[in-house]
Amino acid sequence: MRKIIQRSLNKYCRWRIGQTLPGVLDDLDAYKKKSNTTGTQWITLWMSVKSILKHRPEEILESGTGSSTMVLAATVQKLKAENPNYNGRVTSMESVGAWHEIASKNLPEKYRAEVEIILGPREKFEMGFFRGYSHSNIPNRNYGFILLDAPAYDDENGLSFCADVFKIMDFVQNDTLHGVSDGRASSVFVLQTLYGPTVARYYHSLYAASFSIPRIDFRDRKNNTPKDWRCTPNGRLVYKKFRKH
Ligand SMILES: C[S@@+](CC[C@H](N)C(=O)[O-])C[C@H]1O[C@@H](n2cnc3c(N)ncnc32)[C@H](O)[C@@H]1O
Repeated sequence: MRKIIQRSLNKYCRWRIGQTLPGVLDDLDAYKKKSNTTGTQWITLWMSVKSILKHRPEEILESGTGSSTMVLAATVQKLKAENPNYNGRVTSMESVGAWHEIASKNLPEKYRAEVEIILGPREKFEMGFFRGYSHSNIPNRNYGFILLDAPAYDDENGLSFCADVFKIMDFVQNDTLHGVSDGRASSVFVLQTLYGPTVARYYHSLYAASFSIPRIDFRDRKNNTPKDWRCTPNGRLVYKKFRKH
């Protein structure tokens, strides 16, 4: 059942993308022939397009370059065409040298003005009681949207999470960060643990979650007073410091 829902939704989202960003489907088909990147599912791409069109962030961060880069760039071009004051761009991080080379070579000329592809080998990221992996070399820009689709987040210690969404909180000034996670349940789990489940609803049939979260400092050692924790009547601990409800 899950697979049937996912397949139908992907079909619908592909159609919505084609309607919203004319020409991009042809570019994606052509790109696929040149690069055998894993790609990003249509559900995730459509969630990203919707969020960017709604919030109009000028600085967009992509974690994991590939065909998705063109969709983000086409969305920026649409916003630019509709609003001369909008000056958005996509910073696309790629952690693997070989993929960085392929992606840099294959990005169509028509998207190059909107995109900067940067090589940032993955590095460990630690924050409070979580550990993850992030891209190194992320430029210090005031990101308002992030597409979480890399880097690899497992190692000899097991499963961690994709941490770019928190790494950029060290320097962004926006109070709210919008984004979408493609799969990466462990990353969504971290978001839900800190902000509550309503902030990033995740369903296997979507294999993606859209989120809007406040910028926080989770490295502060003082985030540990009894007020920061709630105990439910049956003894379950909830870390509630950053939860709205
Ligand atoms: C899920 S992929 C990112 C896909 C990208 N957002 C896209 O739409 O094409 C995550 C990472 O896997 C690596 N990768 C890309 N294509 C790959 C392939 N065909 N096989 C294995 N790894 C790949 C790259 O380092 C990439 O950043």
